[in-house]
Amino acid sequence: MNIILLLSWHLATCLHRAAAASSAKDIVPTSPAPYNEAVDNGTYGYYPIRTFATANDVAQPQTNFLQWSEKCDDGLLYFLTPRGWSLPKPGPMILDKYGDLLWAHHYENKYGGQAYDFKVQEYKGERYLTFWLGDDRVRGHGSGSYYMLNSSYDIVRKVKAANGLSADLHEFLITKEGTALMTMYQVIPHDVTEFREFDPEKEEDKDPNYIWDCLFQEIDIETGDLIFEWRASEHVPVNSTFHDIGPGGTKNDAFDWFHINSIEKDELGNYLVSARYVHSLTYVNGKTGEIIWTLGGNTNDFMDLSGEFALNFAWQHDARFLPLDTFPNMYTPPDRKPGFTTRLVTMFDNAAEDQHYQYGLTYSRGLVLEITYPTQETFAKGASGPTYNDLTRRFEEPEYTDSVLNHRKMVEINGTDPNYTARVIKSFVSPDRVRSSSQGSMQILPQTGGKDPKVLIGYGLNAVWTEFEADGSVLCDVHFGATTSWERGDIQSYRVYKFPWIGRPKSKPDVEISDDDAEVFVSWNGATEVATWILQCSQRKSKVETDWADVVSLRKSGFETIIPIPESMLSEPDSPRYLRVIALDSAGRRLDHGISRVIDRGLMASYFPLLDQKLPHQVSRMSLGRMVLIATSILVGMFLLYEAYRRYLSWKLGKVGGGPFRWKTGAGYRLLGDM
Ligand SMILES: *[C@@H]1O[C@H](CO)[C@@H](O)[C@H](O)[C@H]1NC(C)=O
Ligand SMILES: *[C@@H]1O[C@H](CO)[C@@H](O)[C@H](O)[C@H]1NC(C)=O
Ligand SMILES: *[C@@H]1O[C@H](CO)[C@@H](O)[C@H](O)[C@H]1NC(C)=O
Ligand SMILES: *[C@@H]1O[C@H](CO)[C@@H](O)[C@H](O)[C@H]1NC(C)=O
Ligand SMILES: *[C@@H]1O[C@H](CO)[C@@H](O)[C@H](O)[C@H]1NC(C)=O
Repeated sequence: MNIILLLSWHLATCLHRAAAASSAKDIVPTSPAPYNEAVDNGTYGYYPIRTFATANDVAQPQTNFLQWSEKCDDGLLYFLTPRGWSLPKPGPMILDKYGDLLWAHHYENKYGGQAYDFKVQEYKGERYLTFWLGDDRVRGHGSGSYYMLNSSYDIVRKVKAANGLSADLHEFLITKEGTALMTMYQVIPHDVTEFREFDPEKEEDKDPNYIWDCLFQEIDIETGDLIFEWRASEHVPVNSTFHDIGPGGTKNDAFDWFHINSIEKDELGNYLVSARYVHSLTYVNGKTGEIIWTLGGNTNDFMDLSGEFALNFAWQHDARFLPLDTFPNMYTPPDRKPGFTTRLVTMFDNAAEDQHYQYGLTYSRGLVLEITYPTQETFAKGASGPTYNDLTRRFEEPEYTDSVLNHRKMVEINGTDPNYTARVIKSFVSPDRVRSSSQGSMQILPQTGGKDPKVLIGYGLNAVWTEFEADGSVLCDVHFGATTSWERGDIQSYRVYKFPWIGRPKSKPDVEISDDDAEVFVSWNGATEVATWILQCSQRKSKVETDWADVVSLRKSGFETIIPIPESMLSEPDSPRYLRVIALDSAGRRLDHGISRVIDRGLMASYFPLLDQKLPHQVSRMSLGRMVLIATSILVGMFLLYEAYRRYLSWKLGKVGGGPFRWKTGAGYRLLGDM
């Protein structure tokens, strides 16, 4: 009988096919996808995404390289936090060298789960992913906590601010001593009547005279103990702000006058603070909290030696000190003068704030300044002043939206003490001269082999990052949202970084099989080491390795790889019922946890492969093949039951009295099977 034959097909093992295991055509990209104008010009909306069959909770931006150089392929990955009106599920995200997704996760909270400041940091010799999450409904800052994830993407620490304050989203910097620097915002009473009048009759003016004060703290990560705290309003005059008070200044709408947005600690134990609304960087004594100097803004101490190009930064972010030997080829520091300190400082100069463009240049820039100032300890000893090496480059006339206003500001703030000087070493400007009203970052990438390092600029409010050569030339220019979204907040990332990172998730790779049974989809959110996927088959749902045979191997391409099930396997009589996918690294080793769940193709797939084979290949197997298979199997099943019943009745007929199943009277039962 047929059934015996069918069973015998099934008994044949998938292992016989191992020898025939084919290696499907590898499609491994060697450059990013070509520039797509329609994606860039908003034809598909502000944030065109790619979705995946294997991971419906993540999506990948349609990363669009306007310019690409293989020099950007440096082994580092991109770290960003896409968020904004266009994103239903924002969160931290890692992209590979071509802008393809490696890891994304949406951390649900009641404020929409927007993450900020996603990066890799070292703590006690181990690398962690860190980012901020909390309540960011107050425009431009937040109250929440910082999270630390280990290499398997488990949250291992939630770091909070001390003294009952909440950590603000702008900065979380882990120091070599195992402490963390954090910014925070707090509403406190403060007289603001010099900025506006309040009408006691008006409902919205009741409870006047409040500011958003800014603080930073250094805390011990292990114990949570507070090591140092600094409060802006105790050291900086509130009237040095450039920010309009507008209708604010009340308890419900406190005046955001300082807006701290970066903090770092130098080897002397002092802190460098960036505050956007005062247009200045403040160097703070790490013992007393006193201000050592201020660079830029109304309380500026420095003389601008680059026309007005050094101190005309406005609404800036992400200020950092750099070692003097950071650019060994591009920059030679001046001869050391006793009693004076020369340093390099970088920042992202937004030159824009909340769609106000009157202060600063007509474009945002990454800025490298050289500053010289009297060394604190020796200042009193009366050493001779520094000499300045000639500027090697003449600066073009700055381009301002409101040049009168800006020239006036520059004359007013210019330092008068020649012992404090600032000059421009380099400006990094995107080819589109992007101007970002908020956020943004500037990262000096690791230096290799005596070469000057590359520079990565993230454009914050605008979904752009640009990677530069140290000389300012553009290597890679990337949009991860449409240009039509710029300055709107539809798609933004507070900062963009590059770091080395190895992620080893504890979860299995995710697999799905296409409806037409012709392709297997595989992805593994967060696994950075996968180089090759191997599709395996078995006749049994087995945990025994020897029951599994390789069917096809395919190099990983993009977040989700589509592995076509070879025609030969689909059409063979013993087409195996079970499939799985395993992950190999670039050395061909199996990765831990790198075995997917077992896909069961179902009884039909292996019992009736011959029918499948007869179908035209171009026709979708779902629409036709599957339906024919299902219909056939139902018919065969019914026939077998029918036949058994008929034989039973015939046998019963020979007995006296017949049986209870007689549904038809007559001489006999001549049914289909007898014809
Ligand atoms: C956007 O780009 C597409 C593809 O190049 C083009 O056909 C379309 O006209 C463009 N639309 C706009 C508004 O520029
Ligand atoms: C990460 O932390 C989780 C939870 O503590 C732990 O189970 C896991 O083993 C850690 N992963 C690594 C790679 O250490
Ligand atoms: C700021 O206030 C101080 C007094 O605290 C005053 O001396 C100074 O002139 C004010 N500056 C501006 C720009 O109004
Ligand atoms: C500049 O520094 C020199 C040497 O320390 C000192 O003699 C001089 O007074 C300083 N200039 C000003 C304006 O303070
Ligand atoms: C600032 O001071 C320096 C040194 O005196 C001078 O060269 C420069 O022109 C001044 N800039 C402005 C805008 O006044």
